[in-house]
Amino acid sequence: MNAFSSEPAVPTASPAALRALIESRRAVRRFTAEQVPQAVIRDCLEMAVLAPNSCNLQPWSFQVVRDPALLHRLHYVCMSQNAAKAPLIIAVLARPDTWKQACKDVVTYWPEPEVPKRILDFYARTAPFQYNQGPLGLLGLFKRQLVRLLALRKPLMRKPNSKAQMRLWAVKSTALASENLMLAFQSHGYATCPMEGFDEVRLRQVLDLPREAIPIMLLAVGRQGEKGIYNPRLRFPLEQHVTWL
Ligand SMILES: Cc1cc2nc3c(=O)[nH]c(=O)nc-3n(C[C@H](O)[C@H](O)[C@H](O)COP(=O)(O)O)c2cc1C
Repeated sequence: MNAFSSEPAVPTASPAALRALIESRRAVRRFTAEQVPQAVIRDCLEMAVLAPNSCNLQPWSFQVVRDPALLHRLHYVCMSQNAAKAPLIIAVLARPDTWKQACKDVVTYWPEPEVPKRILDFYARTAPFQYNQGPLGLLGLFKRQLVRLLALRKPLMRKPNSKAQMRLWAVKSTALASENLMLAFQSHGYATCPMEGFDEVRLRQVLDLPREAIPIMLLAVGRQGEKGIYNPRLRFPLEQHVTWL
């Protein structure tokens, strides 16, 4: 399938099939000991990174933990919760620190023989202006004031212009990749549980995480075990969350 076409997209999954997949995913807290094949993990990660992401700078990384000794340590880091007793845990990390290299990578990996000038310009000038906050975020501070002035004349994107906003920027895209990852495993017949119930300081030590990386969730993966789902599905009425304008 070639996803690069100026023709309107033809849906390849029926709404019913997509709904069935989404509805079948539950947070599963008990897994069997069956290992998840490497090919399945790879396929799912490939689908994860097809998630939409800001400026295609792909601000994420994944640590795939299969080593039993390391999994044992992660179980402890996750306060010994059941869901963390899985044969596979993927640490999903948001990376607000990789945008500079990513600007170069877009050009390196551009999938056509010639990189269009608008792409070269965007990743050489516009993106660095948007994402560089400077030492101690001082450039961000300056940009905030500049944008405030310029935006008096026309609508402008006002963020990110601080280190904190860069973290939020990276987390948004990475959260989308996480959902892709869960649905991808679900499509292969493997259950998942996203976990933020962990001790971040210990997690950083155990996985030797880069200082700037933000662990947004640990994803437990495996075949669903007996009594793996604790509660019936519950969602609030849609109208409570939706405003129709
Ligand atoms: C960011 C995030 C963190 C979560 N952390 C945990 C966790 O640490 N332990 C756990 O058992 N479930 C965790 N969950 C699962 C939620 O409790 C679960 O998704 C929610 O209750 C809805 O159930 P469902 O996913 O089966 O529809 C987490 C989910 C998300 C999205």
